[in-house]
Amino acid sequence: MPDSEVPTIPPPAGLPALDVNSATHYQNVVAAIQEKLCRQPDRFMPFETYMDLALYAPGLGYYVAGSQKFPNPDTPGDFTTAPELTPVYGHALAQQIAQVLQLSGSNHILEFGAGSGALASSIIAALRDMGIEPQYTIIEVSAELRERQGERLNGLEADVQWRDNLPRHFEGCVVANEVLDAMPVSVFRWNENGQLMEKGVTMGTPFSWAERPASTELTETVRSRMTPLPGYTSEINLRAEAWVDSLGQWLQKGAAIIVDYGFPRHEYYHPQRAQGTLMCHFRHHTHAEPLVYTGLQDITAHVDFTAIADAAIKARLDVLGYTSQARFLINSGFVEQLAQATKTDAVDQARLMASAQTLLSEAEMGELFKVMVLGRDIDPPLIGFERGDRRHRL
Ligand SMILES: C[S@@+](CC[C@H](N)C(=O)[O-])C[C@H]1O[C@@H](n2cnc3c(N)ncnc32)[C@H](O)[C@@H]1O
Repeated sequence: MPDSEVPTIPPPAGLPALDVNSATHYQNVVAAIQEKLCRQPDRFMPFETYMDLALYAPGLGYYVAGSQKFPNPDTPGDFTTAPELTPVYGHALAQQIAQVLQLSGSNHILEFGAGSGALASSIIAALRDMGIEPQYTIIEVSAELRERQGERLNGLEADVQWRDNLPRHFEGCVVANEVLDAMPVSVFRWNENGQLMEKGVTMGTPFSWAERPASTELTETVRSRMTPLPGYTSEINLRAEAWVDSLGQWLQKGAAIIVDYGFPRHEYYHPQRAQGTLMCHFRHHTHAEPLVYTGLQDITAHVDFTAIADAAIKARLDVLGYTSQARFLINSGFVEQLAQATKTDAVDQARLMASAQTLLSEAEMGELFKVMVLGRDIDPPLIGFERGDRRHRL
């Protein structure tokens, strides 16, 4: 489309304006979702379907099309995850991975949603320092990210492979860093009559919120997790639970390390968290409106770790540990790894310390982010949970 034919998209409040390429892409995503919306009964699309399309529609969704999500030397991207801050994060995680590999008698690592490849790169380097040469497999939904991971990891001359489908059997260590929060969620609201409404999307400018009575199944599931509170809106991530269920089918021996922002259920569905936990990221602007800049912004929801633990138990997996990111990293030798990474250049050293502060601080990622390890046929204790294990709070 010639530039002159791309209408200007007025930026939503507080967000930067779009360049021509982004505006064109945005219009394509909106047109594709609107076309699907028009075919839905009552022109109502459940939010879960909308989020799935906005993030993963082939060739269009945020994670599968070409926008620059992660920072690189040319652009700051949309958000910064822990592995992007410093390789020391991966070095500490590698201490826990090494123990899992040793207990499972395997050198296989399976990472879901590997982003820019930063975590894989730092894990492989740290394991090599421990004399372990891992076989590293990545399941990545984004062709663009897969390419970027390839560029980054090929130089390591390590055994790295990509696969599209889940394994039938797996022994070793699974890693999912900020993956469950990117899975599409259902959004609900208790109305004034104590009825559960499912929230979704209808035609607007270009989309607006709508709601309809939730199915009996969704109502019963939500009711089993929280007391109805009139006006209360929140989310439920049934896909993350299905992911744990499938893990229970193919994880033969080993453990899955899950890192994400979230809480136990009593905090997740706390009466004061009445607007839910949806969060969107666009060029380092964080806000709570997923219906704008569709396909151009990340959409996430916090993780209900009680639901993940319950799904694990149902799938006959063991919940081997649950704690804050700060506690897990410290238990896994983060401080010692940090000392080894000391820089001679004062500016580099200041950057390293700032990253460490972000990862550990209660006010930043240290407390909001949690680590949970699910396993099978692995004998605890795991080093990451030697102190401050919070399974009793789930
Ligand atoms: C916020 S990014 C995190 C990337 C990386 N792990 C990091 O921490 O930098 C979320 C990633 O999860 C991936 N993802 C979401 N659902 C997935 C699934 N079912 N299987 C594999 N990857 C998935 C997305 O494609 C995306 O790459």
